[in-house]
Amino acid sequence: MKQAQKGLFISFEGIDGAGKSTHIQALADAFKASGRAVTLTREPGGTALAEKLRQMVLNDPMDALTESLLVFAARRDHLKTVILPSLNSGQVVICDRFTDATFAYQGGGREFDLTTLTQLERWVQSVDGVFREPDLTLWFVLDPRIAAERLVSARVPDRFESQSAQFFDKVHQAYMKRALEAPQRFAQIDASQSKEAVWTQLIDVIRNKKWLNT
Ligand code: TYD
Repeated sequence: MKQAQKGLFISFEGIDGAGKSTHIQALADAFKASGRAVTLTREPGGTALAEKLRQMVLNDPMDALTESLLVFAARRDHLKTVILPSLNSGQVVICDRFTDATFAYQGGGREFDLTTLTQLERWVQSVDGVFREPDLTLWFVLDPRIAAERLVSARVPDRFESQSAQFFDKVHQAYMKRALEAPQRFAQIDASQSKEAVWTQLIDVIRNKKWLNT
């Protein structure tokens, strides 16, 4: 009998403008081409409730604790109603941002208390006594100044995208701290390279884990 496939949880992270979007879609396509069922999702968001919370977080001014509570509330709903059921049915879940973004933006950018974020992380990501986090986090690393230049012409900025270079330096440092704390989970992608070279780095990480049959 064919053995049931194990669910895989992969998150994408990086400062705004690092260029995650096209590669997220391409990775989903690569898994589908190898015969896997894929759930492609994002945070904040991924459920009807969480998408409402996303609109608030991205558009309404609020203090950093309120912001953290809203992104974690969205995450709880997303985890329980989409991510865990998909993983339990053996799917590959690819998520555009997850909790590292909260440590980076709320913890780093807004300098919110990391102990409180760690407590919220424990509460929100523990379901039936099991703590769940991504199996792999692909971290797109790019100099905040280059990222800002890429964003200028791209679109109307949201509340985070309009922040200063100094804010994004802090976001970058906080991602670095998370990566150093969980080196087995994080893979660094040098996002300053060409689109093709970035893709090659990314797909090599996945192949080295033997997660693709093709
Ligand atoms: P982003 O992936 O950049 O969406 P889009 O490319 O469609 O604009 O995510 C939206 C923003 O939300 C981004 O600036 C980072 C921010 N964010 C937080 O501040 N905290 C979080 O926990 C998450 C998940 C995102």
